Amino acid sequence: MNGTTTAVNGAPDRAHLHHEKHPILMEGGQYIVEGEEEAQSTTVIFSMSEEVGALANALKTFELMNVNLKHIESRPSRREAKYEFMVECDPNKGDLQAAIEQLKNKTSYLQVISRNHDEKDSVPWFPRKIADLDRFANQILSYGSELDADHPGFTDPVYRARRKYFADIAYHYKHNQKIPRVEYTEEETATWGTVFRNLRRLYKTHACKEHNNVFPLLIENCGYREDNIPQLQDVSDFLKDCTGFTLRPVAGLLSSRDFLAGLAFRVFHSTQYIRHSSKPLYTPEPDICHELLGHAPLLANPSFAQFSQEIGLASLGAPDEFIEKLATCYWFTVEYGICRQNGELKAYGAGLLSSFGELEYCLTDKPEIRPFEPLKTSLQKYPITEYQPVYYVSESFEDAKEKLIQFAATIPRPFSVRYNPYTQSVEILNSKPQIQSLVREINCHMQVLTDALVKLT
Ligand SMILES: [Fe+2]
Repeated sequence: MNGTTTAVNGAPDRAHLHHEKHPILMEGGQYIVEGEEEAQSTTVIFSMSEEVGALANALKTFELMNVNLKHIESRPSRREAKYEFMVECDPNKGDLQAAIEQLKNKTSYLQVISRNHDEKDSVPWFPRKIADLDRFANQILSYGSELDADHPGFTDPVYRARRKYFADIAYHYKHNQKIPRVEYTEEETATWGTVFRNLRRLYKTHACKEHNNVFPLLIENCGYREDNIPQLQDVSDFLKDCTGFTLRPVAGLLSSRDFLAGLAFRVFHSTQYIRHSSKPLYTPEPDICHELLGHAPLLANPSFAQFSQEIGLASLGAPDEFIEKLATCYWFTVEYGICRQNGELKAYGAGLLSSFGELEYCLTDKPEIRPFEPLKTSLQKYPITEYQPVYYVSESFEDAKEKLIQFAATIPRPFSVRYNPYTQSVEILNSKPQIQSLVREINCHMQVLTDALVKLT
């Protein structure tokens, strides 16, 4: 599997990054086994020098090697050939490697994008359209109902059954569906109430202004109350109106690669269950308190939303070592970030904003504070079982975004990507006509802006 491996253990009163690998063994691992088989696919992009029958000729190669094709697309090419083809293959049947070798002799250009890193010259597979995120449910590293022996709910059969209920909702969720509404029990609502009450007291003094600005809107529009756990669908609808971000239920832990890829589509994978009632101010993993109190308010901010999406876009097709670096940048910003506002330090990371103890601690003079510099920050090791000894400060989300974009440019990738919000898909920018058409589109936008400015003067 791709991504980084990070041990996840319980830590008092703190939540952690969603996309860490979980080292425990699967209990009913059928989901993973089936999922890995099903989710594998290899995409081959190639162009051919001959024009007539070029595609038929190439497809014959796949047929001869018994390779199943799942999807075929053609598009104008910037290379000497007029067209290039993108073919998604099932790598589990036939001899794909042999087909690729044969194709190399016939093509003028060939690139392989694959989940299987053993293949030569391959770029790791990544979702191209928002519905592709449906595949991640099959690639969960640990199903949400499997708890560690030191989890507060480990010996509670009712809690475990409840966790399975939530995991099943997410496992069966498909893009474009409404997230099922959940009736939370009295006990669950009381747990939420304790967390909500304690954290809210600190927000005024400890949270960044963006968090404090949006919180009243969440109370007004999404049912944020001490006696009510908001529904994911309502929060998702609210975020969509603000920044285009949506929430998607997640059945367990995703790899860093998959979690970050969601951000490229402005999709945030969110848990729906709540922590165990015996320890309301402690959770060894992200829960709905962490998502809705920590993450959701910031995702409603346009600059922060764009910053988050930039991390996601940078991750698509990136080599494993860079996924780890991006995940570390994510950790020290989206999860544990601090910013300077009017000369004062304020928390904007969701891990801080959803952790009663660490939110107070992070703004004391105990931890070390350093400026957010992706080149350095991305190499920083961090503990996951205790408060962070080091926090990174951003001057603004815009500033953090610019720095991240510069860092992303150092990632070795043979292409650039752009998100097309109209089609909710990722475009690979590697053809001249395609970039020319984008330039025309941006010129058009510039004209509208220039006209608007003229009208204002
Ligand atoms: Fe998180």
